[in-house]
Amino acid sequence: MMKRIMITGALGQIGSELVGKLQGIYGVDNVLATDIRPASLENGPFQLLDVTDAQRMYDLAKDFKADTMMHMAALLSATAEEKPLLAWNLNMGGLVNALEASRELGMQFFTPSSIGAFGPSTPKVNTPQDTLQRPTTMYGVNKVAGELLCDYYFHKFGVDTRGLRFPGLISHVAQPGGGTTDYAVDIYYKAIEKQAYTSYIANGTYMDMMYMPDALQSIVDLMEADASRLEHRNSFNVTAMSFEPEEIAASIRKHIPEFKISYEVDPVRQAIADSWPDSIDASAAEQEWGFKAQYDLDAMTVDMLEKLKIKLQNV
Ligand code: SER
Repeated sequence: MMKRIMITGALGQIGSELVGKLQGIYGVDNVLATDIRPASLENGPFQLLDVTDAQRMYDLAKDFKADTMMHMAALLSATAEEKPLLAWNLNMGGLVNALEASRELGMQFFTPSSIGAFGPSTPKVNTPQDTLQRPTTMYGVNKVAGELLCDYYFHKFGVDTRGLRFPGLISHVAQPGGGTTDYAVDIYYKAIEKQAYTSYIANGTYMDMMYMPDALQSIVDLMEADASRLEHRNSFNVTAMSFEPEEIAASIRKHIPEFKISYEVDPVRQAIADSWPDSIDASAAEQEWGFKAQYDLDAMTVDMLEKLKIKLQNV
């Protein structure tokens, strides 16, 4: 049972909602949010942290008496492809620092992996939990190396490392920024603002996706799972839906009939998307710790449009 959780990348796409979720479960004072960008949270403690600063990461965790580290700070796939060396240094350097702090302080450990950990030689449909992982992107290289490193820290040092291979995550709260799956977030904003969206991902390109509330719950459930049930650790396939741009457009059209989608394909992000699976198999997560997503595409669309209408009225 975790009680004192430190989060890196707390202002990022996942972190900015994970903080509130964990505060609600474990108490506001038991969640330390950290980020490289300054912030004043509505509630709860916040500290500045550059995750490449190992000493500060260790000191913050120690002072907070954290028993759990959730390491969320990383560059996403498209940004990593633009700045591969920075991505290596930040994604791998941050991870090893977080793992070291966890080893030294005996913290339970979580970090997200991604569908980006798969590559062109991976089976594309119903991608198994255990399969070929030869990604061709820097982000993917980071994620596979990260999964291996987390398993290493478990086997070698007994650190309770756990991870999820997230698909594209969709939310009305924080904009992702720099990902390949971000089109599936942008499209909802543009549907409300302009009733039209120009997609940088081509028609017919399937990718796995999940609504943020399911992603947050899956982190909590995995971290609470009985360790004796976990045959896998780093990382579990999880997914809620798989769609291509025309299908999300059709889902939006059920509520905004005049909505139009057009295409201006970005070759960099399209190549990344083409190297990823069409749909992954989450049965290991279902069996080992009871993973289950609540939202399918249409349920997500209803909630996204409802929440974004309110949000966009207030800006
Ligand atoms: N959503 C992420 C990205 O597109 C996938 O991990 O980079």
